[in-house]
Amino acid sequence: MLAAMSDSINGLLPDSLAIHADRAANETDAVVPPIWQTSTFWADSDESFLEKATTPGCDHFYTRTGNPNQTQAAMVVAALEGAEAAVVAGSGMGAITSTILAFAGAGDHVVAQQNLYAGTTSFLSGLATKLGIETTFVDQRDPARIEAAIRPSTRLIVLESPSNPLLRITDLQAVSGIARSRGIVTVADNTFATPVNQRPIEFGIDLVMHSATKYLGGHSDLIAGAVAGTRAYVDRVARVMSETGAILGPFEAWLLLRGMRSLPVRMERHNRNGLAVAQFLTGRAEVAAVHYPGLDEHPQRELAGEQMSGFGGMVSAEFRGGLAAAARFVNSVRLARRAPSLGGVETLVTHPAAMWAKTLEPAQMAEMGIVPGLVRMSIGLEDARDIVADFEQALELVAAAGE
Ligand SMILES: Cc1ncc(COP(=O)(O)O)c(C=O)c1O
Repeated sequence: MLAAMSDSINGLLPDSLAIHADRAANETDAVVPPIWQTSTFWADSDESFLEKATTPGCDHFYTRTGNPNQTQAAMVVAALEGAEAAVVAGSGMGAITSTILAFAGAGDHVVAQQNLYAGTTSFLSGLATKLGIETTFVDQRDPARIEAAIRPSTRLIVLESPSNPLLRITDLQAVSGIARSRGIVTVADNTFATPVNQRPIEFGIDLVMHSATKYLGGHSDLIAGAVAGTRAYVDRVARVMSETGAILGPFEAWLLLRGMRSLPVRMERHNRNGLAVAQFLTGRAEVAAVHYPGLDEHPQRELAGEQMSGFGGMVSAEFRGGLAAAARFVNSVRLARRAPSLGGVETLVTHPAAMWAKTLEPAQMAEMGIVPGLVRMSIGLEDARDIVADFEQALELVAAAGE
């Protein structure tokens, strides 16, 4: 379940690590690690049983506390993020909630971004408050606001950059500096960027988390999460995961490992296609604003360039015609499909105001900047010309309707 970087892969570059970082955890001669589809492992003596039971992260005892497929996937995540250790989770929400619960309890305070994945916002403002954890949400574009929200009881700062769905950027270095000097733990959701484009640990962030359902898995065929950081911090998170059961099954861990092999190559295309679509949308009269950190027009383009090496496949656009125009666009695309989630090989579009209507209060959505005319696009690996052609015909229908 837990994994540290192995000596045998020291010195490899990230693209190679995606393919080989888990080698030391495959004790068979199969080039592709087999699936350890077992809930439990036998021991040949009382001593060996006890040793396995009391070794943290032992992956040959009971699959809720460890399994070789979890270890292998975690090793690749750790290597890609440049972290000492990582742990995989049953979902991105399993990763984020386990991290929050590992570092905050009753009476503790959390500072979180206002523009944040809605599931994280919902947990912090709902279940977490029932457990006595209070959160202050602030506009993360200004680190001074994060600093101002800190109290003596603040234990954790929850970040996400670029953020879902508005692609806002957080100054990771500035926030980690503010937190470090006060002994506050920082966690950054790196789902949108992926470690190919951004490694928050290099900017002093303590823990990086992922919805591995998205780019890490990359094929829209599994639900998974991951957290990377120092061994000591990851152990704390892993313990919560094991106690709450937020762990990843062996088959999903195997699928995640397979997906990550091609992450660097996929991201090259996502980066190219994301930029091509963002540039195309920028020139369209039906679109009032395009949010993509790689665009020169993005208000935080400079900061994005300092902490990201590519800008990913997530683009969001605000339609001039508001709700009606956004709905017509989403209803009119033919190649792209209307579906939640992101980061897969296929282009997906969603209408966040409709998607989150039952989870977030209208005021919360407004505070987060989710306007009715916003459409979020996960640009896939198709030929960019096909995606642009599809979006163009949908925009023509929006224009024809006078929206
Ligand atoms: C940025 C981000 N973080 C976390 C999550 C939650 O991940 P999961 O759905 O795998 O639980 C999502 C899901 O969309 C996400 O987009």
